[in-house]
Amino acid sequence: MGVRTRPSRAHRTHPGILACGLFLVLSALYLARGLLYDAYTLAALPLIWSRHADRFYISAERDGFDLTFANYSVHQTSAAPLPDRVPPVLHHISLGSGAATHSKWSEVRQSCLDMHPDWDAFLWTDETADALVAADFPELYEMWTTYRYPIQRIDALRYMVLYKYGGVVLDMDLQCKRGFGPLRRFEFVAPAAHPTGFSIGFMMASKGNEYIGKLVQNLRRYNRNWLGLPYPTVMFSTGCHYASTIHAFQRNRTELKILAGPPGNRRMHSLNGPVSTPIFNHLGSSSWHSYDAAMIVSLGKSHGWKAPLGLIVGVALAFYIVRRTKKRRI
Ligand SMILES: *[C@@H]1O[C@H](CO)[C@@H](O)[C@H](O)[C@H]1NC(C)=O
Ligand SMILES: *[C@@H]1O[C@H](CO)[C@@H](O)[C@H](O)[C@H]1NC(C)=O
Repeated sequence: MGVRTRPSRAHRTHPGILACGLFLVLSALYLARGLLYDAYTLAALPLIWSRHADRFYISAERDGFDLTFANYSVHQTSAAPLPDRVPPVLHHISLGSGAATHSKWSEVRQSCLDMHPDWDAFLWTDETADALVAADFPELYEMWTTYRYPIQRIDALRYMVLYKYGGVVLDMDLQCKRGFGPLRRFEFVAPAAHPTGFSIGFMMASKGNEYIGKLVQNLRRYNRNWLGLPYPTVMFSTGCHYASTIHAFQRNRTELKILAGPPGNRRMHSLNGPVSTPIFNHLGSSSWHSYDAAMIVSLGKSHGWKAPLGLIVGVALAFYIVRRTKKRRI
């Protein structure tokens, strides 16, 4: 009682060791700053996506656009009398084992071709895609051929063909109910996803579009085995989260249009699951993507992205704190 015991040596940490540890941690953070910054951009998406959203969500008031499409002819394939900024080209991508089940989807694809009778139509296969990447994006060829998941090759190819040719890139399971004409007046359009970002299963863009160029350029930077898990790896390196993040960090997003429904039915154009929108019947199967994709989809459904995001937010916060501390010292 009342006897003061000195803490044993083992429990005392020498200030030198502390400083050493701190130095090591800071050095590691410094060396990993590129990774941490990229992780921060991905983690920040939910916070910054909606900044200036009123400028880039297509609206009846600002754009005079009928978001329900009820006022447009089903057969309208041009924006005339407004200029067409998106060229009349359709792209479908059928790579890897997906090609084996392709015949199942050829009727679905045909519905889009039929709606756009005079348009050019590409069906990108293993051979033609390989040749395109080798010829036009040689600096990305090695990465593209060695992506771990087949769906990464599909996603990256979406951006490359859109950059080179412009036009409309479509998932194989989207059945077209009408022409894309009314949307061709915009230089970029993609359907809103919820709660943040957009879906890359349907995108329209002008040829050589600057933003699409950024999507191609940044592929290498974001090509990491994110958290060692398939779902984050695909979403963050090539998928919807990647494309939405690059969108969110563009200086002026006014022309990079996102298509959502009118107030009261904001999800009208969302392509989540098997749905019918004014433009599409989404038959909602990823089976053609191959076994890997199916696994990724099921992983996504069971875990969502909240757990990996939490981890990244933690890392990004640490990065922020270090940066702020460093700034104060300077
Ligand atoms: C559709 O057209 C009608 C008649 O021209 C017009 O009154 C209405 O505002 C239009 N609807 C939308 C949503 O643009
Ligand atoms: C963004 O671009 C639009 C259209 O190109 C332009 O009208 C607007 O002034 C730009 N906004 C800023 C903040 O630069």
